[in-house]
Amino acid sequence: MAEDLRFDNRVVIVTGAGSGLGRQHALMFGARGARVVVNDLGGDLAGGGRSSAAADSVVAEIKAGGGAAVANYDSVVDGAKIVQTALDTFGTIDVVVNNAGILRDSSFHKMSEEDWNIVIRVHLTGAEAVTRAAWPIMRDKTYGRVVMTASSSGIYGNFGQANYSAAKLGLVGLANTLGEEGRAKNILVNTIAPFAASRMTKDLLSPEDLAKVKPELVSPLVGWLSHEKCTDTKGLYEVGAGFIAKFRWERSRGHKFGTDSVFSLEDVARQWSKIGDFTDADHPAVLEDATKVVFG
Ligand code: NAI
Repeated sequence: MAEDLRFDNRVVIVTGAGSGLGRQHALMFGARGARVVVNDLGGDLAGGGRSSAAADSVVAEIKAGGGAAVANYDSVVDGAKIVQTALDTFGTIDVVVNNAGILRDSSFHKMSEEDWNIVIRVHLTGAEAVTRAAWPIMRDKTYGRVVMTASSSGIYGNFGQANYSAAKLGLVGLANTLGEEGRAKNILVNTIAPFAASRMTKDLLSPEDLAKVKPELVSPLVGWLSHEKCTDTKGLYEVGAGFIAKFRWERSRGHKFGTDSVFSLEDVARQWSKIGDFTDADHPAVLEDATKVVFG
């Protein structure tokens, strides 16, 4: 089948696009006709250093394939500068893929304040800063697609990644509310939790597993979520090694103690198994559905 899901005339920002997943996303967009802002600070895995080489080489690859791309070397924390590059070069912005990231792993009791702050800043505040700068443009044109990059570490928890897990699940919360706020303006916001071989995972996974989690096996989902034909919003998807699945919230039927009298700790203990019983569980997707049961 011909590649009919194209991005001609669409302007796409991919942050952290100089290597790993971001590079593959940028190449995919470039090959499908998008005009791509290849953002990358070019630093090391821990967030130190800077270089223009990473972004430049991906821009060269896209251009060599006949695509249109421009490099940007700002930190995502300076999101407005990245969006300005899109506006100066291509005149608008249609898609933001928030992908840039770093690691400062250590167990919580050894984690410095700086390791906490920089990881929250790059992943969560960085994605917020880029999206914030793109948001009014998307609102004005009543079109936008935003993809956040979360992590299974945030969903499930992972030893040594308190900062990273908090930032990554923070992005899901951000996406959930931006999904609500963007809906009426046709700005759709989705989140991926990828698995991919990159400098982030090369020492964590076995060579056999690394061979399976090629970054290019994540980009098709990013492309679909970024396309005008995809009309879903507020989704969270696990993706990697040729597998894609959707997450949703699940809430037990719970127990209603009522409001006539204050119940005791012992009452909670007595109902504990019922509170945690997921038989016939509920899947509220919006706040209105969730609160109906609480207040109803
Ligand atoms: P990577 O280290 O190859 O790519 C991250 C890129 O972001 C690098 O090129 C880096 O220079 C850039 N970057 C870092 N700080 C930046 C900043 N302040 N401003 C602009 N660019 C910056 O790692 P990978 O694996 O490709 O990661 C991409 C995203 O996917 C990250 O958000 C990561 O947390 C997430 N992720 C990756 C997983 C994996 O299995 N590789 C698992 C779960 C999430």
